[in-house]
Amino acid sequence: MSVYLAIETSCDETAVAVVTDDFQVLGHRVASQMEHGPYGGVVPELAARRQLEVLPTVFAATLQEADLSVDAVDGIAVTRGPGLAGSLLVGVSFAKGLAVAYDKPLLGVHHVEGHLCAVRLEWPDVPLPALGLAVSGGHTHLYYVADWLDFRLVARTRDDAVGEAFDKVAKMLGLGYPGGPVIDRMAETGDPRAFSFPIPQMSDGSLDFSFSGLKTQVMNVLKRDPVAFAPDAEGRWPQRTYDLLASFQAAAVAQLVDRTRRALQAIPVRSLIVAGGVASNRWLRREMQALSEETGIPVWIPRPDLCTDNAAMIGAAAVAHFQTGQRDDPLRMDADPAWELGTAFWMSFRRA
Ligand code: KG4
Ligand code: ZN
Repeated sequence: MSVYLAIETSCDETAVAVVTDDFQVLGHRVASQMEHGPYGGVVPELAARRQLEVLPTVFAATLQEADLSVDAVDGIAVTRGPGLAGSLLVGVSFAKGLAVAYDKPLLGVHHVEGHLCAVRLEWPDVPLPALGLAVSGGHTHLYYVADWLDFRLVARTRDDAVGEAFDKVAKMLGLGYPGGPVIDRMAETGDPRAFSFPIPQMSDGSLDFSFSGLKTQVMNVLKRDPVAFAPDAEGRWPQRTYDLLASFQAAAVAQLVDRTRRALQAIPVRSLIVAGGVASNRWLRREMQALSEETGIPVWIPRPDLCTDNAAMIGAAAVAHFQTGQRDDPLRMDADPAWELGTAFWMSFRRA
């Protein structure tokens, strides 16, 4: 059995994990940063500085939990991109230092590949090929997963990522950052049919996503009558705010389901994988389960704490690469903030 150390610092989390090649998680730590709340988003300089401070502590705590020393690991995996340049650099430099000092194989992992591979921590043998939908604060990407080393892009967002839309809508109402979990909770008491937001379609017939129009429509509703949506003196929100959030969430999810359904109709697969921070959303999870029942294709969604950023998923993605002997040169590997995953999938989705 091989054991891998994994490090993830692509956005504002600082995460370290120890994962075996049969997908057991021996150690798993995520330090989240809450300082961004008042700013309504991640402040890159704050994030990197904080990661530099906490990474050694998170690293030590994870090894202690796994009851392991660096000497005993068989490889070191680190998120190389995409993400915030300064944040990525903190993790990559740390991993390179360890790889050189302890003479261990090093592997740079793509963050979105990590999200999709998180399912392997609970179900190592998810049947492939699969369609993989990665939904997070930075990504809304649909991949054809031919095998665990072969990802092909089917569709992507043309503007905002879906998580970004959740965060921006939350910011409009002063709900803090990240917005997704708050909207998930508040939407529960709202009527998802109260406001109707149409599902945008691409004029070229592609399955690409777009969320900036939805965000603007919510903003316009709020602008028309800001007082009607504001909390009262006791901080209680009016019912129409809950309704607006529920309708927004339902529309965002409906678009994800629409594209996924059409991709499943066009591409024969054995599984559907949904991952990334937004995949912890309860409405999304229910709707994807319903789509699975409708199509007969099993859906695999990691448990919520493996959907949001963590290092165990980076370890999980590294397994297939390490098994084929792949590794990076620790003296040459660099962070790549704009790293693209996989080749484009050449298929036309034009409407009949
Ligand atoms: O994967 P992740 O932790 O980091 C990125 O790679 O971006 O995703 C973070 C995103 C944020 O936009 C956050 O608002 C969203 O995931 N998110 C959610 C929920 N939990 C996190 N969105 C909707 N519902 C949730 N329960
Ligand atoms: Zn992520």
